[in-house]
Parts: sequence; structure tokens; C-alpha cells
Amino acid sequence: MNVPDTRRPHRAVRPVAWFAACRALTALICTAAGTAVFWASAFAQGLAPMPVMEEVPFITTPDNVTVSMLELAGVNSQDFVLDLGSGDGRIVITAARRFGARGLGVEIVPELVERSRRNAQAAGVADKAEFREQDLFKTDLTAASVITMYLLPAVNLQLRPALLGLTPGTRLVSHDWDMGQWTPDRTWTVEAPAKYIGREKLSQLHLWVVPAPVAGLWCGPAGLQWQLGQEFQMLRGQAGRTADLSLLLGRVDGNTLHLWAPGAYARAERHQQGAQADVLRVMEASGPWTSWRGQALRKAAADQCTP
Ligand SMILES: C[S@@+](CC[C@H](N)C(=O)[O-])C[C@H]1O[C@@H](n2cnc3c(N)ncnc32)[C@H](O)[C@@H]1O
Repeated sequence: MNVPDTRRPHRAVRPVAWFAACRALTALICTAAGTAVFWASAFAQGLAPMPVMEEVPFITTPDNVTVSMLELAGVNSQDFVLDLGSGDGRIVITAARRFGARGLGVEIVPELVERSRRNAQAAGVADKAEFREQDLFKTDLTAASVITMYLLPAVNLQLRPALLGLTPGTRLVSHDWDMGQWTPDRTWTVEAPAKYIGREKLSQLHLWVVPAPVAGLWCGPAGLQWQLGQEFQMLRGQAGRTADLSLLLGRVDGNTLHLWAPGAYARAERHQQGAQADVLRVMEASGPWTSWRGQALRKAAADQCTP
């Protein structure tokens, strides 16, 4: 009896089919790579949530580096220091013991929280240094005047939108890792002979001062106007009387604006009186801008200054 052969016949791959399959595979790889690049870039700009979070291991900041981090932030007894991922509590404890600041450490590992509390007791600062078992991503950041971090680059980037929204003037210090396009206001390199990782035994410490959001059109007396574009703490735009605008560059340091044009400088302080009543007051002005000194500019409600 003839048994029908149910095996698939072995077919030679024709060159056209092979070529089409290769093209399809290449397109798939390109699409996947393109999607990855898109999400990485969208995430870097703070547009998309980071889909996967890396684990942050427990590695301590050496003692001398801890002190330098707090010095870079200018910590003093008026400050409230928040350490995100506080490990054995050393940053908050040092801020209390050496600089007189109050502080909070949030840490996900319960044993480290217990150890931090014991360390705070032993250092005699348990009344100033609090530790909570808490996810740093679920922590209210708004009470802090200084935030310290020894995390990972991706985690810093994930925190960036929340950090940028904090009260202008809040100081942020990160051990080793930066925040992508939000360049630090200051970076120190310090020797770290007791560092567990890295061959160089150096630590990079980065400081950012949360900038006030000042992008937009600002209107002053007698046709004075400032049109400001802002990317993080950097400004560029135009300023002057209506028919005589000059290009400017500037930066925002908390609520203080510094503006420059060739031969000209101005410093202004931002005062927020409710969401609708932002005022920039010119405290210092030189060169062709000297006459602006003392003047106040208000945020325009529309895209023109009304006379
Ligand atoms: C590199 S260690 C830094 C410890 C300490 N801040 C220091 O500088 O010595 C990072 C710490 O973050 C903690 N951590 C990781 N993910 C966390 C999360 N989602 N919430 C709170 N803590 C976290 C880890 O357990 C670890 O103790």
C-alpha cells in the first residue's frame, strides 16, 4: 500500500524569496532599533516614562566625599536634607552632626533603615536625622532644601522631571552621575581613596540649583520687553525697547536671572505672587541696559505686551 508522504517537501529557497526575507528581517531590525532610539531620546528629554528601572545597589559614599557633597550644596543649619536611597544613613547623619541640618533618608532595604537609625543614635543626632523604609519614587520631595543622590544615571533621569518642578533654589547634589542634558551648575572632582568601585579612586560631585521657570514674554514700562526661551537653567532671547531689541544669552540660578548681550549685563530677581502674578525686578544693569535698573517686568498674558 502506498502511504502518502505527509512530510513537507524540502523546497529550495528561491533567490527572490531569500532576498525578500532578508529585506523583511532588516526592516524589522531597523524598526526595533529605531524604536529603541526614539524611546531613549524621548526619555532623555523627559517626554516618556522609563519602562525598565535598573536596580541601585548598596554602595557607600566614602566619608570625605560625603562631607564634600554637603559642602558643595552649602548645607547649613537651616537646611532640610533628603537623601534618596540612604543606605546606612551616613549622608543625613553627617549633615546633622557636622552641619547642624535636619534630614530624612528614604531607603528600600529594611535592614539598612534599622542600621541607619542605630547609627543616628550612636552619633547623637536621632532627633535631627530620620529614616524611613520607603520607595524613593513615592517620596514627597517638596520639603527638602537639599537633595542628595548616589543612584544610577537612568534613575537620575527618571527623577529629573520631578526635580525640575521643585521650588526654585532647591539644591541637588549627585555623586558620580549627571542628569543628561540638564548640565550641572558646578562639578567637583574629589579624591576618594576609600571608594569601593572604579580604578581611579576619584568621585565626581555635581550640583544643580533648581531654576525658576521664566520662559515667555515679560513686559515692563515704556515698551521694555524681554522674550525669553529656556532650556533647563540656560536662557536665550531678545530684550529691549520695542524697536530696539538685542539678542541675549542668560542663565537662571534659582530665582535670579543673569542676562548678557555684547557690552551689557542685567541681573533680575523673580518674585512669584500667585501663578498669574510673576514679576521680574531688575536689580543691576549696565552698558546700554543701565536705564532698566529698578524696573519691574510682568509676565504677559498673551503674545504681545499691551501699551
Ligand atoms: C549607592 S547606594 C547609596 C547609599 C547612600 N546614599 C550613600 O551615598 O552612601 C543606593 C541606595 O539606594 C537604595 N535604593 C535602591 N532603590 C531604591 C528605591 N527605589 N527607593 C529607596 N531606596 C532605594 C539601595 O538599597 C542603596 O542602599
